[in-house]
Amino acid sequence: MDYREYIANKLNTNGVEAADIALPPNSEMGDYALPCFKLAKVMRKSPVMIAEELKNGFVCDGVISEVSAVNGYLNFKINKTGLSSSVISEILASGADYGSSRLGTGKTVCIDYSSVNIAKPFHIGHLSTTVLGGALYKIYKFLGYNVVGINHLGDYGTQFGKLICAYKKWGDRDEVQKGGIHAINALYVRFNEQADEQMEAEAREYFRLIESGDKEANELFDWFKSLTLEYVKSIYCKLNITFDSYAGERFYTDKMQPVIDELREKNLIKTSEGAQIVDLEPYGMPPCLILRSDGASLYATRDLAAAIYRKNTYDFYKCLYVVAYQQNLHFKQFFKVLELMGKPWAKDLVHVAYGMVSLEDGAMSTRKGKVVWLEDVINKCVEKAYAVIDEKNPELEDKHDIAQTVGLGAVIFGALYNNKIKDVTFSYDKVLSFEGETSVYVQYTCARANSVLAKSGKKIELPPEYVPNNVEFEVVKALAAFPQTVCDAAEKYEPSLIARYAVDLAQKYNKFYIECKILTAEGEVKDYRLALTKAVHTALSNALALLGIGVPEKM
Ligand code: ARG
Repeated sequence: MDYREYIANKLNTNGVEAADIALPPNSEMGDYALPCFKLAKVMRKSPVMIAEELKNGFVCDGVISEVSAVNGYLNFKINKTGLSSSVISEILASGADYGSSRLGTGKTVCIDYSSVNIAKPFHIGHLSTTVLGGALYKIYKFLGYNVVGINHLGDYGTQFGKLICAYKKWGDRDEVQKGGIHAINALYVRFNEQADEQMEAEAREYFRLIESGDKEANELFDWFKSLTLEYVKSIYCKLNITFDSYAGERFYTDKMQPVIDELREKNLIKTSEGAQIVDLEPYGMPPCLILRSDGASLYATRDLAAAIYRKNTYDFYKCLYVVAYQQNLHFKQFFKVLELMGKPWAKDLVHVAYGMVSLEDGAMSTRKGKVVWLEDVINKCVEKAYAVIDEKNPELEDKHDIAQTVGLGAVIFGALYNNKIKDVTFSYDKVLSFEGETSVYVQYTCARANSVLAKSGKKIELPPEYVPNNVEFEVVKALAAFPQTVCDAAEKYEPSLIARYAVDLAQKYNKFYIECKILTAEGEVKDYRLALTKAVHTALSNALALLGIGVPEKM
């Protein structure tokens, strides 16, 4: 049950909604509160008077056990036994499904994320889009939506002509096959450093050959593409990321002309300095380039075609683009063009923008020619995780597997913990701390809960009439907040809410663990505390799973 909604409904006053019900920082006053300041404007009375009146008209029941009016706040106390037994028994019964719902039944959400560029490094700059998109994918699925994960590959453009040219000149088949993406990238870098006029001309010719369907040029291109995909898929596998479609920019080659025709028909296209553009000046934006003066299409042209294709193919309820905020203008522009084309669904396209991730030891910068490969960050984090675990618990079995789960979790959580629009600096020590606001802390809490349960060796049985103490009740309230947190994360495209939730619940459980005896308690108290422990383990595991993070049994 959502208690905030329950209270709002029961109050039935001047449009008070669940969102108006707050969680007071100090639960001495109440478990939930309604600040009456907003109502004061509508009702033209002082908040103090309103709170007093609402209190007098409120009838307590099995759910709300007490109501009080203090300084313009209406405070509610929840029936502890009622909430506690309903939440814990729900968690015990639903397990890995706790927090899921059928909210999205019948609705499709497309998520364009990671969207790597063929033959280019998969670097730390791709971390956020990959893990954010991956988390949103899991969150929407959990809420019952049909989700289509799309990797809009950057596989179109003159750079592939350059690559073929470089390969022809310096490449070796076996070396490239063995070296994979690194070898391809090295060829590309070498081309950019050493190419002369003549090579540039050859590269243009190779690009033209790819476009015109030349067999050899296309075979080479497909080979480079498959080597890149093989490489990135190995990383997706580690990060628990999946896609339903790898339709990249190239896929839209034959789907752009109908869009251009439609733009012409609707009189939206103009010639400007030889190029074909859609004028967006009335909307305070630079023009959206559709065709260059040499007739070549652009990134935006392919995105227009892709959006229309996705609508026709998936009939999405929403289509999300998880792409860095540097591309804000691009998305605003092509969303606007679709709106001008009269597509009512243009309003369902969402640019989920995020900030930059940089490393504290040397900012990620392609300008300085210093690219940090994501794979290296992952490996280093796993290595460091091993050291941290080994130091803490040298006797542990399966240390390598655990380090893998912990290290990968730290990379993901480190990128997800902050509000997505913030620029963040990634610090290995910070993300691997057992004490901080980290996945390690949450995983460690799970391992702790697990060990309590293993040691007890008892079947979990929740005593139905148990009245939780204040510390236990804080844990219960946090447990109850999970389903709403998942919905909020989906609605705001903000997986960090789930990451923060996990840390908050873990902190409350650890306070309980320190202050209340579990294994040495007796009778009902022990039974209750074990059930609570089991419920916390479930909620934490579910929260981490939505972010793509596993939970080791021991740590
Ligand atoms: N490949 C692009 C890049 O690395 C991101 C593509 C994002 N998706 C899109 N539909 N534009 O910048």
